[in-house]
Amino acid sequence: MKNLLVTGGAGFIGSNFIHYMQKQNADIRIVNLDALTYAGSLENLKDLPRPEQHLFVHGSITDRALLDQLFSEHKIDTVVNFAAESHVDRSILNPGVFVDTNVIVPVEGARFHHVSTDEVFGTLTREDPPFEEETPYAPRSPYAAAKASSDHFVRAYQTTFGLPISISNCSNNYGPRQFPEKLIPLMILNALNGKPLPVYGDGMQIRDWLYVDDHCEAILRILQDGREGETYCVGGDNQPPNIEIVKTICDILDELQPDSAFAPHSQLITYVADRPGHDRRYDINIAKIERELGWKPSHDLRQGLVDTVRWYLSNPAWVEAITKQSDYDNWLKKNYSDRKA
Ligand code: NAD
Ligand code: DAU
Repeated sequence: MKNLLVTGGAGFIGSNFIHYMQKQNADIRIVNLDALTYAGSLENLKDLPRPEQHLFVHGSITDRALLDQLFSEHKIDTVVNFAAESHVDRSILNPGVFVDTNVIVPVEGARFHHVSTDEVFGTLTREDPPFEEETPYAPRSPYAAAKASSDHFVRAYQTTFGLPISISNCSNNYGPRQFPEKLIPLMILNALNGKPLPVYGDGMQIRDWLYVDDHCEAILRILQDGREGETYCVGGDNQPPNIEIVKTICDILDELQPDSAFAPHSQLITYVADRPGHDRRYDINIAKIERELGWKPSHDLRQGLVDTVRWYLSNPAWVEAITKQSDYDNWLKKNYSDRKA
């Protein structure tokens, strides 16, 4: 792996992956193709450890001519595909763009790793066993359906054209540089500003939270030693209900900002109308990646949340730039103003 093409590398996980890879491998050259949608920003790439080994290209993964040009100009040997529309709530309000962006066909000519999600497996009851690589697909939101479709295309390209592929299906990530439409950064920023903390439904839905650097490490292990054609499930082994995550964020802010006019921050918690088709519970079995590649998460959830809250407190310029660039206030209005309890 010498010349890596990262797609969607100006977004949350993609940019963390580029930071991570530059720390791990001093020689690798990275071409980063990103369309800079509302979720992508060059702010996420400002403090790279080796900026001279990173080339940003503004463009879309749907532009095949551009991809061909990048492949031949930069002798790309490996692709890691993060580019996607990633927010379930947006897929409910505007599904079309999820079909346009997320239903990808892979690029031929290099090892192709596709970053996918546990949401392709649908939802679990309290009694169901965790998702694993063999769990049948049963996506329930437009976002998850489009991601499932791309997973099928990637596998079909391996079967039909012999493309060397791999796929990871990962659970919910959190950490620095996450766009504040997602639960954890939204709650941190709303709490800091004394705004309501909108908990969907009864707040007892369960996600399997993973610190973003752990996900980056899992992808690197798959690229290095993963078997071609294989799928690996990646998860955090952390399954508290949403309300517990929100309360923990409030506690951390109470500790870090004891003089805040909004403390105790838990007074801001507000139950609001549920997400339509809301998946109840995710849990993911990581036995395969642990057994084959020796990977398991290394970040403790509470410590990861403290680090994440500290990161948002220390980066007000990032928050200001990101929210300005992305028409953020409009999104908040659109998604939350009619969401009565
Ligand atoms: P994000 O929304 O923060 O970033 C997505 C990036 O893709 C943005 O920079 C955006 O500009 C770019 N993009 C969108 N359309 C594009 C296009 N047509 N061409 C090129 N770039 C385009 O998303 P994220 O949370 O970083 O997720 C990255 C990937 O990981 C997605 O594929 C997502 O499905 C998957 N994933 C996310 C999570 C999670 O918890 N966030 C968990 C599992 C898997
Ligand atoms: O499981 C992996 C997936 O995790 C990724 O594939 C997606 O890209 C990523 O967005 C994430 O999807 P979720 O829908 O689980 O993440 P989100 O942060 O939007 O919501 C997490 C939980 O919190 C979910 O049960 C909905 C709830 N929630 C979310 C928001 C934004 C609230 O209660 N209130 C909110 O305001």
